Amino acid sequence: MWHFHGKYWIFKRLFLKQVKCVYPFRLMRPDDANIVGNVHGGTILKMIEEAGCIIGTRHCNTQPGDRCVAALARVERTDFLYPMFIGEVAHVSAEITYASKHSVEVQVNVMSENILTGSKKLTNKAALWYVPFSIQNLEKIIKVPPIKYASAEEEAEGKRRYEAQKMERLETKERNGELSRPVPAPDRTTKEPHTVGFSQSSLIHLVGPSDCTLLGFVHGGVTMKLMDEVAGIVAARHCKTNIVTASVDAINFHRKIKKGCVVTVSGQMTFTSNKSMEIEVFVDADPLIETEEGKYRAVTAFFTYISLDKEGKPLPVPPLKLEGEEEQKRFEEGKERYLQNKTKRLAGIERKQ
Ligand code: COA
Repeated sequence: MWHFHGKYWIFKRLFLKQVKCVYPFRLMRPDDANIVGNVHGGTILKMIEEAGCIIGTRHCNTQPGDRCVAALARVERTDFLYPMFIGEVAHVSAEITYASKHSVEVQVNVMSENILTGSKKLTNKAALWYVPFSIQNLEKIIKVPPIKYASAEEEAEGKRRYEAQKMERLETKERNGELSRPVPAPDRTTKEPHTVGFSQSSLIHLVGPSDCTLLGFVHGGVTMKLMDEVAGIVAARHCKTNIVTASVDAINFHRKIKKGCVVTVSGQMTFTSNKSMEIEVFVDADPLIETEEGKYRAVTAFFTYISLDKEGKPLPVPPLKLEGEEEQKRFEEGKERYLQNKTKRLAGIERKQ
């Protein structure tokens, strides 16, 4: 009997190890943060994605057959609940909460620890979906080993989230197609402050080996960090104050970006409310060498930023000056997303009370 229990315990330990993981904690340093010491949203997104990739890849390799790497396919909408500062320690924990036939859902929590006072705060909760690719064949998606659920309700709840994101994804695919418009080069010399053209910004990045997975395509976290960097530049150019990431809407990673590509990440302000700014970010990949595949849009997403005063309190944002019907249309769409997100956030707060 003792023997049986011992074996069962070891099995349980091994099993839980695959499904839960704690990412090594990391001290936040000046190069993780902006000039006033707030850790960049992009740095946090990168840590979240690394934790998700590790646990997703580990789980998908617990079966015989092809070895594989889990690629980020989607991140659900993420809110930044509290700021994190230089000198604090980030703790990241990840857990696989649902497995479909070819994808896994990973829930990640980020806590910031003040090591002087010992206080800890939950700064982020994120849900990410990963799809495993065979190491032998980059185009082959492999089957995901099943996970054990604590209860039938937990499994049903996971299935509901899986079906919901699948539905939402179909809509985004259509929207992405519609948005394949080129983003014009920024021209601040001829643009008035607070117009869309004035704050519009881009950066160009050559994808190197350190940006990539074992399979030679970009880690989702690297892409999100670049996106957050551009969105932050747009927000700061618009309001010329300290700015922080408040949230990121759901992002779908429809196309891989391979090593050696040149990526152009561009951001445009779409909407301003009294105290927030929405920035749409586009990631275009240009495979320099593989000429048969032309330039393509790999990802788009909406980031929301807040302007802060010296005490860290939200400031009113200069209203966006719109030029033309297209900007007006995008502003109205942004307002719709803002109102929907606000309603959901307030409903969430009420439920917790
Ligand atoms: N979010 C969550 N799951 C997704 C997804 C998304 N955006 N896109 C596809 N999936 C899931 C599907 O539900 C399916 O799982 P299921 O069979 O259990 O339902 C599985 O992925 C395969 O879907 P399929 O329709 O066969 O594949 P696809 O042609 O849509 O390709 C990807 C999906 C993710 C493989 C493809 O879009 C891709 O390669 N994306 C880039 C991944 C990457 O490089 N990430 C880092 C970005 S910088």
